[in-house]
Amino acid sequence: MALKYFDGLNGFTLPLADGELIDFRPVRPTDWETIQDGMSALSAQSRYLRFFSPIAKLPDDLLRYFTEVDQHQHVAWIALVHQRMEHPGVGIARFIRSDDQPAIAEFAVTVIDSYQHRGIGRVLMAVLHLMAGLEGVEILRGYVLPENDVMLNWLGELGAVGKYDNGVYRMDLAVNGDEVSSMTQGVLQKIRAFEDTVSAEAPQNPD
Ligand SMILES: CC(C)(COP(=O)(O)OP(=O)(O)OC[C@H]1O[C@@H](n2cnc3c(N)ncnc32)[C@H](O)[C@@H]1OP(=O)(O)O)[C@@H](O)C(=O)NCCC(=O)NCCS
Repeated sequence: MALKYFDGLNGFTLPLADGELIDFRPVRPTDWETIQDGMSALSAQSRYLRFFSPIAKLPDDLLRYFTEVDQHQHVAWIALVHQRMEHPGVGIARFIRSDDQPAIAEFAVTVIDSYQHRGIGRVLMAVLHLMAGLEGVEILRGYVLPENDVMLNWLGELGAVGKYDNGVYRMDLAVNGDEVSSMTQGVLQKIRAFEDTVSAEAPQNPD
């Protein structure tokens, strides 16, 4: 029932609080350029918080790895400004299952600075959570730098359990956790409400 409005293959559109429309869909191999452009739209600080290094541009082999995903072992979704052809990428999230522990998947989420704190990260996390449940992942594991207060606080609120090791927090989010489930239900309700609005506004077929 909860998945009725969530097409795990095709994606969906949602308005931000100010009404701007954002498309969410699985990553495709053709997203190579969009993702590289997204790197340029990230501040040095955001790039550091995501990659733990001041990387400015993704090398070709990493771009290939980030875009040629099977959506089972490696699940990746992108957020795009609705129907804008130039530089539309505003966020991305992925999880990659561990080969030796398939119930655990390492995740990461990134939103470009000019779109941060507007709810995109939460939608992407909800998608990861849903896809993790569908794929049998039990723990979403994120590695977070100690200075990344936003991510640490947010994951803490979602019920993640942290372990400090070697300068990094390993944050484990149980996929069946109450807080993460309620976040996901909230996002699903927004998707449903928006789809209902769109179909109510669509012209009726005279037949
Ligand atoms: C972490 C990140 C992905 C969050 O994405 P976002 O789209 O800004 O997140 P949202 O707007 O959906 O907010 C998610 C939560 O973080 C909080 N938050 C986001 N930005 C915040 C800010 N600048 N100050 C305080 N809280 C903030 C929100 O209030 C929300 O918490 P809530 O659910 O309790 O209300 C984004 O800041 C980012 O890309 N950072 C750089 C890369 C990074 O650190 N990635 C994580 C590596 S795993």
